[in-house]
Amino acid sequence: MGTSDIPLRKIDHVRFFVGNARQSAFFYRNAFGFDVVAYAGLETKVRHEAAYVLKQGGITFVLVSPLHPQHPDVQRLVLHGDGVSDIALQVDDVRTAYNLAVERGAVGVVGPTRLEDEHGVYESATIRAYGDTTHTFVNRDHYKGAFAPGFKEIDPARYSPGTYHPTGLLGIDHIVGNVEEGKMDEWVGFYRKVLGFEQLVSFDDKDISTEYSALMSKVVQSGRGRIKFPINEPAKGLRRSQIEEYIDFYGGAGVQHIALATNDIVSTVKALRANDVSFLRVPATYYELLPSRVGKIDEDLDELAELGILVDRDDEGYMLQIFTKPVQDRPTLFFEVIERQGSKSFGKGNFKALFEAIEREQESRGTL
Ligand code: FE2
Repeated sequence: MGTSDIPLRKIDHVRFFVGNARQSAFFYRNAFGFDVVAYAGLETKVRHEAAYVLKQGGITFVLVSPLHPQHPDVQRLVLHGDGVSDIALQVDDVRTAYNLAVERGAVGVVGPTRLEDEHGVYESATIRAYGDTTHTFVNRDHYKGAFAPGFKEIDPARYSPGTYHPTGLLGIDHIVGNVEEGKMDEWVGFYRKVLGFEQLVSFDDKDISTEYSALMSKVVQSGRGRIKFPINEPAKGLRRSQIEEYIDFYGGAGVQHIALATNDIVSTVKALRANDVSFLRVPATYYELLPSRVGKIDEDLDELAELGILVDRDDEGYMLQIFTKPVQDRPTLFFEVIERQGSKSFGKGNFKALFEAIEREQESRGTL
């Protein structure tokens, strides 16, 4: 394990490449309760793209749209639709992280870059990850501005001063990547050998399979657990798996879901529902079997059933989770909301129930 020489601290931000960043910002503000805190674009002398920085708790999203057809990433929109383009990781030293990663086989995209303005110095460098996804190493220890040079602050109260319900989202728990069949171990190897992640639990398709959808998943982590990346690949099912569906519609490997942490999932989900976020439905029978599966929990079962919140337990405690429907027309990226009560797992026991729910959705789209 080579973790000591690329000390990854945490996820700095997630960059989304989208067709209309202005409208996406409105969605993430009014549906998910993010503050829009900074902007870059023509008004800040950025000529090729517009970018909105959104924050909530410890979460930072950056929504980016190209401003003209010569933008280097413009084909990404045709190929993938809206989605995550980059997961930026905070490091102690950008140059060291980049050089070591490339030395060990990472493909460099942008070498170490130092941006400077009156607020200080912002350093970054970018390598390739699965599909067209990248990781940018970031160090902002000597930067005091809104986000990065080129961005100007926005007063959150001025951007869509809304009537949305605050959702209490606190941080990113994990980010899941879907990779092509047979590629999971390769990417787990990339995170372990190139970036020094450690591998956590693994489970095979016997654990997570239904008649139609099977997948295999392994989890890698870094930053003393602050960065957790489960990697999924499709396994042979009788019909098309949800991972395959993702890959078909995304045009390759990419980020499947981002899990956002709360310490009060009931209030968070109530607020998100009131904001019109759509969640996957869970079969009613799921809740009949729940007490025998997870034992005593603090939450009111009827309330969990009404909201469609899932529960799972392991040796260390339990966890509550729920999944949104895809947040764009393509059945690609979605979100998870998660509350941990001791459990460090990812809801293995819920996969089957979840997949049955997802398959009902697939059936309604005629893609099963
Ligand atoms: Fe998850």
